Amino acid sequence: MTVHATAPAVMPAPPAAPPAPPCTLVVFGVTGDLTHRKLVPALYSLAAGGRIGERFALMGVARSAVDVATLRRELREGVDQFSRRRPADAANWERFAAGIDYVHGDFGDPATYATLARQLHALEAARGLPGNRLFYLATPSSAFGPILTNLKAAELITPPHHPIWTRVIIEKPFGRDLDSSRALNALVATVLDESQTFRIDHYLGKETVQNIMVFRFANALFEPTWNRRYVDYVEITAAEDIGIEGRGAFYDQTGVLRDMVQCHLLEVLCLTAMEPPTTGSAEDVRGEKLKVLHALRVMKDTDIPADVVLGQYKGYRSEPDVAPTSTTPTYAAIRAFVDNWRWHGVPFYMRTGKRLAKRVTEVSVHLHPVPLCLFEHTRACEGIVPNVLTLRIQPDEGIQLAFSSKMPGDELVVSSVTMDMKYVETFGGEPPEAYERLLLDAMRGDPTLFLRRDWVEASWAWLTPVLRHFERQPPADLPNYEPDTWGPMRCELWIRETGRVWRDL
Ligand code: BG6
Repeated sequence: MTVHATAPAVMPAPPAAPPAPPCTLVVFGVTGDLTHRKLVPALYSLAAGGRIGERFALMGVARSAVDVATLRRELREGVDQFSRRRPADAANWERFAAGIDYVHGDFGDPATYATLARQLHALEAARGLPGNRLFYLATPSSAFGPILTNLKAAELITPPHHPIWTRVIIEKPFGRDLDSSRALNALVATVLDESQTFRIDHYLGKETVQNIMVFRFANALFEPTWNRRYVDYVEITAAEDIGIEGRGAFYDQTGVLRDMVQCHLLEVLCLTAMEPPTTGSAEDVRGEKLKVLHALRVMKDTDIPADVVLGQYKGYRSEPDVAPTSTTPTYAAIRAFVDNWRWHGVPFYMRTGKRLAKRVTEVSVHLHPVPLCLFEHTRACEGIVPNVLTLRIQPDEGIQLAFSSKMPGDELVVSSVTMDMKYVETFGGEPPEAYERLLLDAMRGDPTLFLRRDWVEASWAWLTPVLRHFERQPPADLPNYEPDTWGPMRCELWIRETGRVWRDL
């Protein structure tokens, strides 16, 4: 049974923030999948919506020797297929595409950067741009070092706080474990100041993820219950129905713990568990998230088999570029504890996987059961289930509260009902893509939704013992789940052993 919240009239759009300052975005890996599916479709939407003005240019860098006309055509195909404002409008596209240029060359070759510097000057002069540059490293992480050191050597990076700014967006994965993430951060720090470094986790650009903080701290009703006294457990699910989508070479070296848990799931956990920051400043918000990671209980080698279940879908080993005996996990369920005053003893169950039954990401906060003495000898008892508050991140974005209600009639029968807020009904339209918000924030110099160096290292510090454990002793039962199911059978029993259940999705 569903009781819908009073449907408000669709809200008027909030006033738009000013457009981005004039700048050039330089994308390394411009012919790659990320640029095609996410970056350029997001940039086009920003341009078509007037969020990046005429004084903008896009310089692509890649190894392939394509000409600019071909590159523009390929990028437009991506916009037609993936942009929120698809298909591209001819006039908007022409205006946007006029600012696209391309340099091809090896990322490790200084000559590439000499050409880049020359072409950047020409493009910026032609478009009246002041030389502010946002570099985007949309490449495998092995290229980060050569790109950064060559950018520095070619004097393409201005000092921090210079009126003509340089910023760099770095894509995940930020290393493979604690040591490599420290090494990467150290290398980045030889070239850039932390204020110029924008480590991107696209989950943070999702409207619904940003709303976790607003929901918690802009409402009086929920925050008082948001602690161990009222909360029995928290469930964070990020289920994907897709597989590895032709990314076998990357994924088989990475696996679900690095791909999803280290950043996306831990970020959502931090937002769910953090204390209210003193202000909304980037440093206060990121400081509170870091404290959650510091409070996460370090998993001892002996606890890991009881607290982590890994899976691999059947058929994974036959995917292109995957080793036939691969033990790379495509599914993980983890029980984590945040050992602080607020959360002591409350388990946070995280689960994520590929080729699961459905695409759904959500956070569910399960409250303790109530004492049933009042209803003990009635049929009512059967229908009383604990309250569950669900923040639906995607798809079908919204917030749902499940509670018990008397069913109309002369007998006392209780049923679980829901109050449901859906973004699409309340706010109308499709929310901006995560990359739109993040690109705009980086152009404006706002790092709030980007990962700070200490957060990245703390996340790896927590995860690395788990990675090491399974490197030494990979699960013996892989592959252990059928595609289009909810993962390994063991996961159901595993959570039930502690008296909890996964929410029925
Ligand atoms: C990426 C991972 O960071 O996030 C992918 O590399 C995953 O494997 C993707 O599919 C999920 O993001 P979203 O926005 O589609 O939920």
